Amino acid sequence: MTATAPAEVRAPGEDRVLVRPAVLLAGAVVVGILAMAALLWAGDGRPVPAIDGLPDAGLGTGWALPAARVLTDLAAVLTVGLLVLGAVLVPARDGELKGARLRFTRAARWSAVAWAGAALVQAVLTLSSVLAEPVGDVLEPALVWSFLVDIDVGRALLVQAILAALVAACAWWIRTTTGAALVALLAVAALVPPTLTAHSGGSEDHTVAVTSLMVHVIAMALWTGGVVALVLLGSADRKSFPVAVPRFSRLALWSAVAVAVSGVVSAAVRLETPSDLVSTSYGRIVVLKAVLITVLAGFGVWHRRRSLPRLSVDSGRRVFARVAAVEVLVMAATVGVAVALSRTPPPVPDDVGLESVGVARLLLGFDLPPPPTAAELLWGQARLDGFWLTVCVLLAALYVVGLRVLHRSGDRWPVGRTISWFGGVVLLVAATSSGLATYAHVTFSAHMVQHMLLSMIVPIFLVLGAPITLALRTLPRGSGQVGPREWLTAVVHSRYVAVISHPVVASVIFVAGFYVLYFSALFPWLMQSHWGHILMGVHFLLAGALFFWVMVGVDPGPRRPPYIARVGLMLIVMPLHSFFSIALMMTEAVLAESYYSLLGRPYATDLLADQHYGASLGWATGEIPIVIVMIALFVQWVRADDREARRTDRRQARAERTGAGADELADYNAYLGSLAERDRGR
Ligand code: HEM
Repeated sequence: MTATAPAEVRAPGEDRVLVRPAVLLAGAVVVGILAMAALLWAGDGRPVPAIDGLPDAGLGTGWALPAARVLTDLAAVLTVGLLVLGAVLVPARDGELKGARLRFTRAARWSAVAWAGAALVQAVLTLSSVLAEPVGDVLEPALVWSFLVDIDVGRALLVQAILAALVAACAWWIRTTTGAALVALLAVAALVPPTLTAHSGGSEDHTVAVTSLMVHVIAMALWTGGVVALVLLGSADRKSFPVAVPRFSRLALWSAVAVAVSGVVSAAVRLETPSDLVSTSYGRIVVLKAVLITVLAGFGVWHRRRSLPRLSVDSGRRVFARVAAVEVLVMAATVGVAVALSRTPPPVPDDVGLESVGVARLLLGFDLPPPPTAAELLWGQARLDGFWLTVCVLLAALYVVGLRVLHRSGDRWPVGRTISWFGGVVLLVAATSSGLATYAHVTFSAHMVQHMLLSMIVPIFLVLGAPITLALRTLPRGSGQVGPREWLTAVVHSRYVAVISHPVVASVIFVAGFYVLYFSALFPWLMQSHWGHILMGVHFLLAGALFFWVMVGVDPGPRRPPYIARVGLMLIVMPLHSFFSIALMMTEAVLAESYYSLLGRPYATDLLADQHYGASLGWATGEIPIVIVMIALFVQWVRADDREARRTDRRQARAERTGAGADELADYNAYLGSLAERDRGR
């Protein structure tokens, strides 16, 4: 391996090696595995031989499995770091990948290959551990294959390996910044599958546990991967280094906060009482992680105070790279500690068997709620949904940041938009975390009300909040460099958005979604898992947001039809939704019957009656969005006319004042005169 930049060529501006990449990466692997081994050895997660006579995978698997997990996590972190650096952190004057950005993106293919390989090795070792048989005895292709496609944890690792291999393939040939950004997103998505199986569906707080771990691992990869990539950039490209580091500093702050908050939430659902932090092996490792993140935050503060101001001088760069290299080793050790944590039995067991909980609990992830009353539907059975809560916090936080930037620049923002946006966010919290959201898993009628809120009501308020306009007015202008603002503009004006935001296409996506979902095998399949529920909710929200963005959105983007056409389209689309409700009321077949029967709820026992009741609620509440949108459309129409009238008056006044430009009124009167003249001549 050459002395400096990732294995490729030494480019102009490359400097004397600040930190040898091979040494840094090897050091991280060793420190990570040693930290994992030390914690497992000292705690309850230590692999021990099984009692004689019982099947045993052996100590080989016992130690190799967590080691493979450390390798998988570290290869994932490096891949994400290299891609984010190539796509986001190193400034680009145009959309083409060049210089350090191209080299880092290309280097990511190797770490992605390592990632895919380590994930597959982890899968085979997990099979050995699950079957309690030495790894040599489970290497039957049919057995491995059925584990990879039929068993959740095997499937998650297979999907991760496939996505990582895809990242490697793409990193081989992409040539544009947008391409690199999309591959970086793919790499982030590849982090997710194992987090979905890290906590069994039947145990309490399932979505909070899974979502917090998902946020945790993604934020950790962005933070740790970014630091590793910057240390490597230090030698590879001294020109962009002083720009890339401050850019990363902002990302690092948000990521560190997200790692800490999601880590605490993850720990909280796995610990019974605060005393578990000292009395249990799991708790003590959590405390160690809290100490390590404090140390890492210390590094961040030090960099901001001491090394960032000196990045433009060589000595400053050297100090940054050396200190950051130590930081990388501490982060690698923390990843090792994290793997030891995930291999240590938590005080609140992650997985619960059928024998200890009823079918309903296994299907729902919580106990069957009591018969619904107004109080139960509002707050009695409220349950925080980790995924949606994260979405709502992000929507609110990003809008507040935008408002603050606008306020600081002395710009004004219509308060109506702010009220509408936060109204939409509050409604989204209500639709996804109130008692209604709990009953939406239990009765079809509650599900239909949630569906109406997510697809018809919440999106209207969010699009009237004009988030894209706020983003374009507050995101930093790239001063000739490609950055978040340029990407947003590119997305909004992309061919893809032009096609899906065509009024007819947006209407079809909006309406057809209901028919396809409920009158196919999709609905019963999605009802069976919490993630199926979340996917339905995401579809309702996005399809609704797209449709209402076209109808009443104030953001730049699609070529909107004239107001009269939009009123017409509303009057076509909404009855189509009513037909859907009527069709549902006419059905004699119970949708997702096996799911609702398995729940065995002691109320709304007539499944078909509850379904028809849900359909009638859908029909009745379908009127609400029509009213809201018609009001918004008329207000916008009147305002647009006013603006047009004022513009005409200004042009008229300017024409009269200067005698230059079209004197529209005079022209119009002349035209009327010519018509009158013609009529008189007849
Ligand atoms: C306040 C600090 C932190 C807390 C409370 C915390 C807590 C947790 C918890 C509870 C888990 C789930 C473990 C399980 O499956 O049972 C976890 C996973 C993880 N944490 Fe943290 N964490 C913290 C900081 C960090 C930091 C700073 C890093 C890395 C730089 C990190 C890396 C990870 C990784 C990689 C995993 C997934 C491990 C695996 O399953 O492969 N965490 N963390």
